[in-house]
Amino acid sequence: MTRLTTLADAESVSERAALEIVRRLRDARREHGVAHLALSGGTTPGRTYELLASEMSDWDGVEVWFADERCVGPRDEQSNYKLAHKTLLGPAGIPPEQVHRMEGELGPEEGAERYARALDEHVGVRDGALPVLDVIVLGIGPDGHVASLFPGAPTLDAGEQALCLGVHDSPKPPPERITLSMAVLRAARCCMLLATSTEKSDAISAMLGEPSKHVPASLLRRGRLSVIVDDAAAPPPPRG
Ligand code: 6PG
Repeated sequence: MTRLTTLADAESVSERAALEIVRRLRDARREHGVAHLALSGGTTPGRTYELLASEMSDWDGVEVWFADERCVGPRDEQSNYKLAHKTLLGPAGIPPEQVHRMEGELGPEEGAERYARALDEHVGVRDGALPVLDVIVLGIGPDGHVASLFPGAPTLDAGEQALCLGVHDSPKPPPERITLSMAVLRAARCCMLLATSTEKSDAISAMLGEPSKHVPASLLRRGRLSVIVDDAAAPPPPRG
């Protein structure tokens, strides 16, 4: 069952998300000696990352990954790494050796291949052959995309063993990207999806409906999904 939390505004969403991430990372570290956190880009999670930097002081044993990246360099304004560095990695002083950046500058295929290897090497807990990340922070597009998995895209047909994929024709600029596969998102202990503003309300309703490749977010594993939205993005109450 998907956990849906509705809060008054975007700041409350960020506060709740940051506290829940801290709790889940501490639990994972206590249970496994290490915790794996993956970050998304876009405009929604930035404030959560800032609050996370102030909420959590001890980052020993936490490995930071990315859910997706645009095929640009780490200093580019469009870089998800740059956003993460500015809002979390820098302010929290997380040692670079604990940060696994997607090398967008290498292009979709080579970048994806190297990242799949890194996941394989560094994530010990497995679900079959799939690495199990503890928390994956996701935003959602008005079209229902998550990470860089877009409606009807060939990436959604990648086999169960695919870890990381190159994207060549993203409808959201820039067109070239690298993304974790849906299989890795579904293998994670928790996908935390954040959404604010009316612009996201239809996508949130659709993702809670019938699973469909037209709404990639609807393919996420419902029993391991924490959706935190503000009133504006919340699905309309059920009729009757
Ligand atoms: C990216 C993101 C993408 C994002 C959604 C929502 O790199 O673009 O990872 O999946 O989460 O597009 O973006 P906003 O938060 O800006 O609405």
